[in-house]
Amino acid sequence: MTLKNSTVDAVSIVEIPKIKDTRGNLSVIENDVIPFDIKRVYYLYDVPSDAYRGGHAHKELYQFLIPLSGSFDVIIKDGKNIKSVTLNKPNKGLMIVPGIWRELENFSSGAVCLVLASEVYDEDDYIRDYDQFKLLKSR
Ligand code: TYD
Repeated sequence: MTLKNSTVDAVSIVEIPKIKDTRGNLSVIENDVIPFDIKRVYYLYDVPSDAYRGGHAHKELYQFLIPLSGSFDVIIKDGKNIKSVTLNKPNKGLMIVPGIWRELENFSSGAVCLVLASEVYDEDDYIRDYDQFKLLKSR
């Protein structure tokens, strides 16, 4: 999947295996669940309900978003199509491929978004201007 050819159809909800137990559930991610080796983990928390996160695309980065607690919406755009996905189950994550604009909003109280990423942080991998994103996608 590349920056130019990816579409919102390549973004998918992935079910994370769950080991049910009366003592509480346990979900585990190994490399058969996501198609990349994890090089970075970060998380969003204490997000005000009116806050807006994201608002960018990546050139090469793959990311897997997991709503560890609470819920939030992810708006995804490929320059032509728009989709909105609500994440609200800790065993269902969103696999985002390169070349997809994403916006995160409508965080519930106490929501935590865990992000597994295929690369370490690199500001040069970001596209933060939507007009530039559309131009790159249409070329
Ligand atoms: P940003 O990517 O704008 O956050 P979001 O997409 O969730 O709105 O990042 C916010 C700040 O944090 C920005 O200054 C870059 C920094 N940052 C890092 O230093 N390392 C990271 O891994 C991430 C994701 C962000």
